[in-house]
Amino acid sequence: MKINQNYANVKKSYLFIEIAHRLREYVAAHPDADIIKMGIGDVTLPLAPAVVEAMRKAADEMGKKETFRGYVDDNGYDFLINAVKNYYANFGVDLDYWEIFISDGAKSDLGNILDLFDADNTVLVTDPVYPVYVDTNVMSGRRVIFADATEENGFLPLPDPSVKADIIYLCTPNNPTGAAYTRAQLKQWVDYAKAQGAVILFDSAYEAFITDPDVPHSAYEIEGARDCVIEFCSLSKTAGFTGTRCGYTIVPKTLKADGDLNGMWLRRQTTKFNGVAYVIQRAAEAVFTPEGQRQIKENIAYYQENAKILMAGLDRCGIKYFGGKNSPYIWLKCPDGMGSWEFFDKLLSEANVVGTPGEGFGKNGKGYFRLTSFSTHEKTAEAVERIYKMLRG
Ligand code: MLT
Repeated sequence: MKINQNYANVKKSYLFIEIAHRLREYVAAHPDADIIKMGIGDVTLPLAPAVVEAMRKAADEMGKKETFRGYVDDNGYDFLINAVKNYYANFGVDLDYWEIFISDGAKSDLGNILDLFDADNTVLVTDPVYPVYVDTNVMSGRRVIFADATEENGFLPLPDPSVKADIIYLCTPNNPTGAAYTRAQLKQWVDYAKAQGAVILFDSAYEAFITDPDVPHSAYEIEGARDCVIEFCSLSKTAGFTGTRCGYTIVPKTLKADGDLNGMWLRRQTTKFNGVAYVIQRAAEAVFTPEGQRQIKENIAYYQENAKILMAGLDRCGIKYFGGKNSPYIWLKCPDGMGSWEFFDKLLSEANVVGTPGEGFGKNGKGYFRLTSFSTHEKTAEAVERIYKMLRG
């Protein structure tokens, strides 16, 4: 037996596990500390009432002989696939039923999709980057190259035609920087991918936070994207499904490749995945009803208000920051030239606030720090006060 030696090339723990570990150690030593968590992007508001009602109803159906359901249909239940299809129509995107695959969230599919691609492909990611894109490729031995996202380019690198890439990851609005490509910028990536014969793995997990009309919600709003983009979305941030788990992946039938990627994904999913539970798919369907949309938008507005509280607080502290406008993330420059982990330790020990060190997202994250707007109003305001006191008080 030989193990997969590529695992020796990834960091010992996943970024958010490392943070949780450091936090546990701190709390063990300071059991009375009143910690405010703004590290991992986990939501705090409960599921919308329409979602809970749908779950209850579905659970009742599962308990009755006449309405009980066993194995899930191929790529998801009709009712949810059609709800997603109708949602995309809002953006002027017309998807075929068989292009939509219901998933248990974007993270799993962003890793699993790699089953479809040879190990001998070059992967391009923007840096700083959601660690899943890099780690999953390193685990399977692919070469990963980086496009620098820096303050100079507004954390939105554009393609360099002299660089050869086969698989390109884009996350917009971006995790961790909160920066978001406009339609015109995204078109440049689509044109580049087509010229290279590459595929773009497009993570739109934060699309519900977009406020800028120039920023597309789906890559398929861009001409030519159906030829080269696989899109991944999740209800985690949109509707508080971080623990409930449901999302969708779009694999166009028109993708240009030396094989049928849509058919391969169906084959892969029906072989290795038995679908998302009926109760959860009914809950997800409720997100797309008019009532569900109204309720989840209220929750998003609540988090957007937190982002404003954070930004006003950072202004008061004289800290430079980015993001927050189209995203639940605020990407700040560590004050006084501090390193990311140095600021993490200071914030934890002196203000009892947990954030995410930018360095955990790649080399360009050095000296930066990420805070989320997913806490409560009260805790967000309290965190801002503590940060002010720590730095200026
Ligand atoms: C994050 O904090 O970056 C996200 O919550 C991670 C995720 O969505 O998996």
